[in-house]
Amino acid sequence: MNKANIEKALKIEWNDEYSLGDPIIDKQHRTIIEYSKLVFETTEPKEVVRRVLDLYVYTRKHFSSEEQIMRERKFNLLSKHREQHNAIITRLSECMEEIKINPEKAHKLLHEVMSEWIIKHILTEDMKIPKP
Ligand SMILES: [Fe+2]
Repeated sequence: MNKANIEKALKIEWNDEYSLGDPIIDKQHRTIIEYSKLVFETTEPKEVVRRVLDLYVYTRKHFSSEEQIMRERKFNLLSKHREQHNAIITRLSECMEEIKINPEKAHKLLHEVMSEWIIKHILTEDMKIPKP
């Protein structure tokens, strides 16, 4: 990965403005950001694949946990929210496919998913989840 990409990757960083004020969800969001940072800290192809897989598995776990919380709190936008989770999962799967073909491009795609989707999703949609 070149220097410009590393600098871009470094912007994927926990920021207190991402906090929902919900300790369980906030902790999981921090973990997702940590997993995604790990992906950008290596260029070794096998390691990249392994780390993206870790991120993917954890993100799926987080989404099902968040959906469970939304059900418990009777969140009325649950089905729309789930669709967005599924779209993020699809994009992460595409990154995993792309890694086998073009690792540089996969890094770029993943960066897009993390910054545009997950962070934007946290700041707009997750903020609507009723507080505990
Ligand atoms: Fe969410």
